Amino acid sequence: MLVRISPVGPMVPVDSPAVLSMPPDKSILHRLLFLASLTTSAFRIPIESPQTISHDIIATILALESLGVPVEISESEISLQGVGLHGYRAPSHAINCANSGTTARLLLGLLAGQSFASTITGDASLSKRPMKRLTDLLSSMGAQIETSKQGTLPAAIHGTRLRGAALTLPVASAQMKTAALFAGLFADGVTRVREPAKSRDHTERMMAAFGFGIESDNVIKLMPEIAARIPEEVEYQVPGDLSSAAFMITASVLLRKRLRIEGDSLNPSRTRFLEVLTIMGVELEANDVAEKWNEPRGNLTSFGDRIIGNLAPFAIGLEDVPLLIDELPVLMVLALFADGESTIRGASELRVKESDRIHLVAKQFESFGVEVEELEDGLVIQGQPGRRFASAVIHHGGDHRLAMAFSIAALFCDGVCELAEAESAAVSYPDFYEHLQMLSGNKCIEVRVA
Ligand code: S3P
Repeated sequence: MLVRISPVGPMVPVDSPAVLSMPPDKSILHRLLFLASLTTSAFRIPIESPQTISHDIIATILALESLGVPVEISESEISLQGVGLHGYRAPSHAINCANSGTTARLLLGLLAGQSFASTITGDASLSKRPMKRLTDLLSSMGAQIETSKQGTLPAAIHGTRLRGAALTLPVASAQMKTAALFAGLFADGVTRVREPAKSRDHTERMMAAFGFGIESDNVIKLMPEIAARIPEEVEYQVPGDLSSAAFMITASVLLRKRLRIEGDSLNPSRTRFLEVLTIMGVELEANDVAEKWNEPRGNLTSFGDRIIGNLAPFAIGLEDVPLLIDELPVLMVLALFADGESTIRGASELRVKESDRIHLVAKQFESFGVEVEELEDGLVIQGQPGRRFASAVIHHGGDHRLAMAFSIAALFCDGVCELAEAESAAVSYPDFYEHLQMLSGNKCIEVRVA
């Protein structure tokens, strides 16, 4: 799919806000599918349409099917029948996690303690991402997992009885934390996990809501073999993905438009992006906030139309990073338009995401004609309000978040920018281009299906 992006024209003030809803939160939905499969309940997960399900979530659904879990997708819902804590059957083939790091890492935790062997593979990008730091962690629980010599996928898992252990994560990673907790479900004795800094806490919230044996404080404690305590039939409405919303909020801020996002996740371990926006001078409001299954959600309005003067620059450091890791690429785009220098430090994890996000952003910004300083653990970006960039070919390296972030920047070039393989966006946000078209007034985004 090729997308051609032309510069947006002058903004026309409108009275009513644009209203959007986001795809289901990817982090919550991965965990929901995995944890639901370990119960004996029938789950119904409402969806807007099958087309709004991200490719990463499809990878998790296919993985569960190959473990013998019945999952179906209809026009309006995903339905899944749990098979119980010990109900997985040995897969007949390697489980391909495609581009989804969350699927692969959570599966490593879940499959390490099964009574069968399994193999996990992924696409070219996922096969470059580090798995060894996780397999090392799981090996201290007795897991037997072999990766490639480089410590990457494919991974061969020799399922074995695990033992609980006191683990300290080498980096603040919610994927690693979750894998360890999932492994702990199948261990003898208690598993304790300590994180160097707090990362997203959906796993702790969901395990507690479902009645698994979890207690979370500074150290998270998991008691094994405790079955879920939930009704036989469960409907779980997953809130919208704030990491997807971040793209549309950014576009609306730059276009000086008002945007309301309905039913979005407002989990505090994911909202640091909103705090940075407030520092930049953007007014935000959350309404109708409610907590269901321990997860806060509500309607979020971003008042791009009320911004007075220029956006202020920001400084992001190590302790912020786990709380806005997926929003960093789009924050880098926002920094381009701030009044002065913004810095992002402590973000070396970005180098091992779906691409080396620090390097690719620096290169793309340079081809837009912007001065940036690439650091080992971040970027220094010189912002300039109201700027227009030199139009350039966009290189996102197949990374969904970079494809989306660069598309927003491209609205402010002085000519047409072309972006090939734009379907990458569907890894997390299938409706991205449609939503951006709506927000920017349609005419500047042309989508050609090759
Ligand atoms: C995720 C955790 C983060 C994030 C990823 C989703 C999760 O990764 O970047 O998109 O659902 O746990 P890390 O745990 O590697 O930081």
